[in-house]
Amino acid sequence: MIRVVCALGRVEFERPHTAEGDPDAGRTLVQGLQAIGPGGEPSDISLSLGLLAPRAPYFDQLVLDAVEAGILQVVNLGAGYDDRALRFRHSGVRFFDLDLPDVVADKARRLEVMDTDTTHITLAAVDFGTADVAEVLAHAGHDAQQPTLFIAEHLVLFLEPGGVERLLAGVSSRAASGSALAITAEVHPAGLESGLVVSTVDDVMFSGAGPLHTIRSRDAWSALFQQNGWQIEDADEVTAVNHFELPVAGQSVQIQTQFVTATV
Ligand SMILES: C[S@@+](CC[C@H](N)C(=O)[O-])C[C@H]1O[C@@H](n2cnc3c(N)ncnc32)[C@H](O)[C@@H]1O
Repeated sequence: MIRVVCALGRVEFERPHTAEGDPDAGRTLVQGLQAIGPGGEPSDISLSLGLLAPRAPYFDQLVLDAVEAGILQVVNLGAGYDDRALRFRHSGVRFFDLDLPDVVADKARRLEVMDTDTTHITLAAVDFGTADVAEVLAHAGHDAQQPTLFIAEHLVLFLEPGGVERLLAGVSSRAASGSALAITAEVHPAGLESGLVVSTVDDVMFSGAGPLHTIRSRDAWSALFQQNGWQIEDADEVTAVNHFELPVAGQSVQIQTQFVTATV
């Protein structure tokens, strides 16, 4: 459902595209999708627009900059119905969109019936919770000797901490010099225990059955990146949007979505 909300929300905005890119692809790609809540009721996507407003342009700009800089591979981790591979089409650039098998299958069907060139797109099915992303990328034809832009927009909060670590290590092993990794990271204030924050979010917001599994302090994110071979760019500068607020251990806590870009 969140995947659909992101896709439907994103096409509400004016989005940039490359000269060869397809500005209308996003709308066509999501045709017929509906955001339905857990009880079967239509979901209000307007709530997500505030989060997407700064997030989508941040990742758009990274892809545009990479294409302009001559990077020839863009790997979109947890791509969902993201249309960047179509909007930012550029001669010589290959886009790899990775997601769960059912999502990839549906995206493939949708791309197939679109009247647009998709030959530069490789879709790859993967469950980051269990699979080795490095193997999946190798199998998909990704060239580990060439620099790559890896993006993971609104993905890692849904993975268990061990899965996030494996993902960062896996992409690091495919990242030639000149590569970059950009993710959205859910961040809680320093001094709180991350496990407690996640379990409180689960209890308070989702009655114990929530989809959010990884929230860390900024310092813990920095350390995790470093341990896996990634150096955060402008580490002292925080680019973020407030995600939600909730009481944890008797104090009100703001959870931010921070946009983090790192180089290898
Ligand atoms: C909230 S959506 C974001 C999609 C896209 N990045 C965007 O911003 O529109 C999260 C995406 O991550 C994918 N995802 C979640 N858990 C995953 C897993 N274990 N393995 C692969 N993909 C996963 C979901 O299927 C979904 O498409």
